[in-house]
Amino acid sequence: MKEVLFNNEEYNQILAQLDQLMQDAEQISDVDHKVLLYQILQYFDSIHREPLSRIMEALQQDETLKAKILSDPTVSKLASLYDLKEHEEPTAKKDERQVAFIPESEVGWITPPKKKDWLELGDIELFQQNKLYAKNYQKVNFIISKVGSTFYAVENQCDGSFLPIDQGTLDEHVLTCPWHGCQYDLRTGESINETDKKLDTFPVEVEKDGMLKVEIAY
Ligand code: FES
Repeated sequence: MKEVLFNNEEYNQILAQLDQLMQDAEQISDVDHKVLLYQILQYFDSIHREPLSRIMEALQQDETLKAKILSDPTVSKLASLYDLKEHEEPTAKKDERQVAFIPESEVGWITPPKKKDWLELGDIELFQQNKLYAKNYQKVNFIISKVGSTFYAVENQCDGSFLPIDQGTLDEHVLTCPWHGCQYDLRTGESINETDKKLDTFPVEVEKDGMLKVEIAY
């Protein structure tokens, strides 16, 4: 097995390429493809985050080894991107090993909201009762649902996780996450069975001609 697949300069180039691809992906106008892309990224995030979290937890037993591993700028950046590293920098020789990184602002789903836009989602007749419709606008994945005669929009990412929840179930106003069973009230975004959890909600309006609109903060 090769000891090192890429040197730091090559790693910089890969990060720059990924950065450009993420910016290009932002320009995708087809909503279904954008939803699909972001959901793939959410799943990739989760399958990486879980083992990385376990590795970092195991390293708590050996601070010397942990510091040595985190002194590699590529490992350090990965841990930082997944928010698994304390902010104090380890003993890396920054002048020799610094690498260019993807700006944190480009990690879409952790970017704090900056702007708001009203988005047209189509005629209300397109939406069936008690179904979860995954949508995307800018860097926001959200779910639109109709319960009774009222529409609701909430973020499509379970609180405390990066996994989407649109494969969950909806019973009246109660949305149940498919992963660990956390339940949310669509009307408020508040969790029913985990009081410290909450989903972002978005204002929804129906125009006179039946056009469904949602205001997305991004
Ligand atoms: S990811 Fe939703 S309850 Fe755990």
